[in-house]
Amino acid sequence: MFTLAHLSDPHLPPLPEPRWTELIGKRVTGYINWRRKRRFIHDAATLDTLVADLKTQAYDHIAVTGDLANLALPAEYPHGRDWLDSLGAARDVTVVPGNHDVYVGEGATFAARQWGAHMSDDDGSDGFPFVRRRGPLALIGLSSGVPTAPFLASGWLGTKQLAGLAETLKKLQSEDVFRVVLIHHPPVSEASRHKRLLDADVLRRVIAMHGAELLLHGHDHLHMLNWLDGPNGTRVPALGVPSASAKPGTAHDAAAYNLYAIGGTPGAWTCEVVSRGVGADGGVTELGRMRVER
Ligand SMILES: [Fe+2]
Repeated sequence: MFTLAHLSDPHLPPLPEPRWTELIGKRVTGYINWRRKRRFIHDAATLDTLVADLKTQAYDHIAVTGDLANLALPAEYPHGRDWLDSLGAARDVTVVPGNHDVYVGEGATFAARQWGAHMSDDDGSDGFPFVRRRGPLALIGLSSGVPTAPFLASGWLGTKQLAGLAETLKKLQSEDVFRVVLIHHPPVSEASRHKRLLDADVLRRVIAMHGAELLLHGHDHLHMLNWLDGPNGTRVPALGVPSASAKPGTAHDAAAYNLYAIGGTPGAWTCEVVSRGVGADGGVTELGRMRVER
């Protein structure tokens, strides 16, 4: 049995105070949004409580599907690195970037510099998709965040990355591993179009052709489960978790994480999900469990 923990969208609070020279372009509207709304949602104590609970559980690896940062301020990336280090060693914690991590163009460079050890392929190469083999799992990391105009949070994988994903999924299929696709944006979403993955239809076609055993995402800050079409009538579960720092009582789901206990053998995998989250009293409890068999 191999247990994978999934956290997402910590939007690490508190936001470092930006210099005026850093408040350029999209950061201006983002900063106003943080001051007016987001600082009341993303709470350091809530995140600490959630992570402390995770550490009481048995798990082998942690996946974080992006949005560690808020405005892509330079100071947010070492802060993110410290937080990742508090979760575990880089070989035990895998990260994919979210749209807030590449909020402005230089964000991707900051992320690669500070979090590269968590986002690199087993062979040490960078770029997306990367593959990290852990136990029976192959973690396949995608980058769907792209700098966008103010008020947009859409994502984009692009032809090159999707072709790389198709090739990777096909190759790993013949190796009988449990393929877990990690991506920030959900492949299916009811969010408004300006928040969605714009080439999600192509992503779903790649999954339908080559399959995957599981897809994990963040971005919508909600508990989500969608079933994607896989090859030969199979189905691929796609699950999302809320923001790991979301206080209870806001518009979106309160902070939570999922644990995936994966067992069985190729062709007969078993996967049981346990969801744990912060309740109205501030404590963490089990929210539910289920088996996601294909
Ligand atoms: Fe987010």
